[in-house]
Amino acid sequence: MTRENWTSSIGFILASAGSAIGLGNIWKFPYMAGENGGGTFVLVYVLCVAFIGLPVMCAEMLIGRHTRRNIINAMGKVERLSGSVGARFVLSTLSAGMAVAFATMEAWLPVALALAGVFLFAKKGFSVLGWVCTVVALAILSYYAVIGGWIVEYIRLALTGTLVPEAAGGVAAVEVAKTSQTAFAAYVASPWRVLWGFGVFMAVTGAMLLGGIRAGIERMSKILMPLLFVLLLVVIARSVTLPGAGEGIAFLLRPTLDAFTPKVVLMALGQVFFSLSLGMAITVTYGSYLHKEHNILRAAGWVGVLDTCAALLAGLAIFPAVFAVGLSPSAGPGLIFGALPAVFDTMWWGPFWAACFFFMLFIAAVTSSVALLECGATVFIERLRRGHKRGSRRTAVLIGFALCTLMGLLSVFSTADWGHLPWLGRAAEACMGDLYRGNWLDTLDNFASNWCLPFTALSTALLVGWAWTPRRAAPELLAAGEDWRALPALWGFLVRWVSPVGILLVFLYVSGFLGL
Ligand code: TRP
Repeated sequence: MTRENWTSSIGFILASAGSAIGLGNIWKFPYMAGENGGGTFVLVYVLCVAFIGLPVMCAEMLIGRHTRRNIINAMGKVERLSGSVGARFVLSTLSAGMAVAFATMEAWLPVALALAGVFLFAKKGFSVLGWVCTVVALAILSYYAVIGGWIVEYIRLALTGTLVPEAAGGVAAVEVAKTSQTAFAAYVASPWRVLWGFGVFMAVTGAMLLGGIRAGIERMSKILMPLLFVLLLVVIARSVTLPGAGEGIAFLLRPTLDAFTPKVVLMALGQVFFSLSLGMAITVTYGSYLHKEHNILRAAGWVGVLDTCAALLAGLAIFPAVFAVGLSPSAGPGLIFGALPAVFDTMWWGPFWAACFFFMLFIAAVTSSVALLECGATVFIERLRRGHKRGSRRTAVLIGFALCTLMGLLSVFSTADWGHLPWLGRAAEACMGDLYRGNWLDTLDNFASNWCLPFTALSTALLVGWAWTPRRAAPELLAAGEDWRALPALWGFLVRWVSPVGILLVFLYVSGFLGL
């Protein structure tokens, strides 16, 4: 069967940007920056995008376009065509190293997974890495959809005019912010209320996917991405004109040396991969639909720039308000849900803008969750055909959907506390050691984004940089007939040296093997 292709380069860029720009930029980036030292985090983040994220993104697009397979066959094929027998043993060794690092953190479940990886990687090579990417993507979708559900609820609240709790009507923004923070805490503590939003979000994601790639994703992103930026600018305009906003801008843009720690770098690195959708099969999957006549360097550059702009704009929209209303910048995952209602409350036609804003966030989240489910579905479609005919799209989507929904329920019922599932809570705490973060959503996020993603990205960089080698791979970065010299060479250097060494150093520092 011939695979579908993107109809145009701009369509590919917008769809990739649509998958990259999502809750990671608008919900996660601000609270991660708030928890990890503001300007310092932002600076480290931007450097990581340029020197580690973009080279890996090009590598993933290359793998996809060259092999035109799902992630599992693609990884296996690149390993085979690189003719390297040692690559899989390097991968096993890395996995063993991860097991040791997890053991020092007493995270026994990850230790077990990493040990299983040692054997599987040695036996089956890089196609196992493809499975890891797929599983990580589905795990991320499981809690991503929970946040998506919060957004659905906030749209409902804005539409019914109850975004700002009754009691707070007509009082100062500071009071409004306090009440909305309490209201948010009460909301996530009642799983039955969270459940319907989560259900709606998953249902929309599944429904979108059944339409096929071109019809659904490409058309929608073309219209909605520009709208998203416009609405962000509206919120920024209000936020920076609140009294006391200047402090927030300074917090976001002024790096300080004391805030700099290896942990900040690990968090920034994890956030780069999360935000650019790397290490999760998706960029490989999208690349596999990309025509030979498109230039990968240009596409990756655009996606990186758009994604980083979206994150910075979100930071600019939120931090001035956070400081103006006296919230703590390190409020964690609830940051935007505490701060934004107070901003909208001071706006003319507040509920209208609030509804628009949360709707835009919903669309951004859906384009991302569709992409996340897409990579699972592509794998299932192309791998489940053994025995009889190829798996149907419908079955594949339903399998991915069911897996994520089940896993997501665990996050829904444990976001505030484990009151509903006490023994599972104790088990999670015992299994995850130092990676444990109080509830399942944050724990899974911590494990998946800060450890699994850098690991898969590191392995991809090693595969392309050392086994396949830039000498063979680089010419494919360009469209047919183009002849650029410097950039492909720079990419080769980055993917071979800078990305892998950078990620390895961060791992070593954070797990305490290199004292700082
Ligand atoms: N990058 C997306 C965001 O910023 C989230 C995401 C992570 C994602 N992994 C993905 C989206 C894979 C699509 C595919 O919100």
